[in-house]
Amino acid sequence: MLCATLTTLLLALCASASPATPRPRGVPQTISLTSRKVARGAPHARRALSPIGVPLADYFNGTDLQWFGDIGVGTPPQTISVVFDTGSQTLEFASTLCGSACANQVQFDPSESSTFVDGGSTGTITFATGVGVDPVVGNNWQLTLRNATDTVTVGGISVPDVSLFLITDQTPTFAPDPFSGIQGMGPIATGLFAGLEAQGLPSLFSLYLTPQSVGNAELTLGGIDSTKFTGDLTFGTLVDAVESQAWQLTSTGITVNGESTSGLNQSRVFIFDSGTSNIVLPKADTEAVYAQISPNIKPNSDEPGTYGIACSEISSLPAEISFTFTSQEGEAFTLTIPSSELSVGPFRSNPELCQTLINAFEDFNIIGGSLLKHYYSVWDLGNQRLGFAPNIL
Ligand SMILES: *[C@@H]1O[C@H](CO)[C@@H](O)[C@H](O)[C@H]1NC(C)=O
Ligand SMILES: *[C@@H]1O[C@H](CO)[C@@H](O)[C@H](O)[C@H]1NC(C)=O
Ligand SMILES: *[C@@H]1O[C@H](CO)[C@@H](O)[C@H](O)[C@H]1NC(C)=O
Repeated sequence: MLCATLTTLLLALCASASPATPRPRGVPQTISLTSRKVARGAPHARRALSPIGVPLADYFNGTDLQWFGDIGVGTPPQTISVVFDTGSQTLEFASTLCGSACANQVQFDPSESSTFVDGGSTGTITFATGVGVDPVVGNNWQLTLRNATDTVTVGGISVPDVSLFLITDQTPTFAPDPFSGIQGMGPIATGLFAGLEAQGLPSLFSLYLTPQSVGNAELTLGGIDSTKFTGDLTFGTLVDAVESQAWQLTSTGITVNGESTSGLNQSRVFIFDSGTSNIVLPKADTEAVYAQISPNIKPNSDEPGTYGIACSEISSLPAEISFTFTSQEGEAFTLTIPSSELSVGPFRSNPELCQTLINAFEDFNIIGGSLLKHYYSVWDLGNQRLGFAPNIL
């Protein structure tokens, strides 16, 4: 979920994502992801905390593109499942104050925690992308929050006095979720992550986001699980991470089935968001990509921002989409979404029509689950860089 606005007096972080600014272009040149050996673990050997593994489940309901895992909140810890969301910075979850609006979710009960401190301030957080593959319409992904602090536990390590927010109301779009909240994992260490760092956890985390058919998806806090990828990691340097509070890299161009056009072969800053399922591009770019795949991919006016094509036609379409970036060594590297991701499943409103993986939304270039599912990713706050290597599936 990409945090769009936080309307509140609270001292919480939520940068309004600004339109991505074009950057100077490198010279695209495709190389395989094997250019750099990373000394795994070595620089962190003197640190006090070992990496913490958090198993992740895949939300499989018409999509295979959203992952969540458990944290403990309060004393004694109440188990709360959250999406580990690189597109936002704060921790918020359903509470008993939310009542029937959160009826399907596990609700944190503050009266059962001896370490809970109520903050007494309220506000709302509005997301620019929601759960699953449905686009945002107006403010239909919004949480009403109340601030607090409490102890948060992950993988047996407790962090006291973490700033967090209780969900006291939510738009109905959140109601079917199998998880209770969102743990922001933006590129600036705050809250839980800052507390773990203060205890000696290395300043990075890694994601292994697998399809449900493979399972064993995992978040590694403070480390890299080298059994989950092949070859070596290739890192890109973050762009304006502090200012934007987003994990961003500059892409030099997009190719579809190995070919580009003058419109696609342009510089764009992409936000990498583990909480967004699909790919999001402005309308003109969305349509430029689809034009390279099939003229029959058309906007679905029933769900503005989405596109689709007859399900009977979709599986035979080649639709390999590659994004070129520049590594820290100055070499071009590509990240590729295979054709198998083109369909995100039938529309609820019309089951003959299958939704395609890019949603159009002006001012946003977002890479979400459709791509992150195919790479092991290392989110290195300490060095302000983002690394990838092909997943082992
Ligand atoms: C799947 O999602 C739909 C729409 O969001 C919801 O109505 C339904 O209850 C969900 N089903 C399951 C099994 O979670
Ligand atoms: C809640 O927010 C208010 C207003 O920003 C702040 O003064 C207070 O310290 C916060 N309380 C907690 C417990 O986070
Ligand atoms: C993209 O444009 C550059 C020149 O700016 C050119 O060298 C390169 O070959 C183009 N790439 C593709 C895939 O068209």
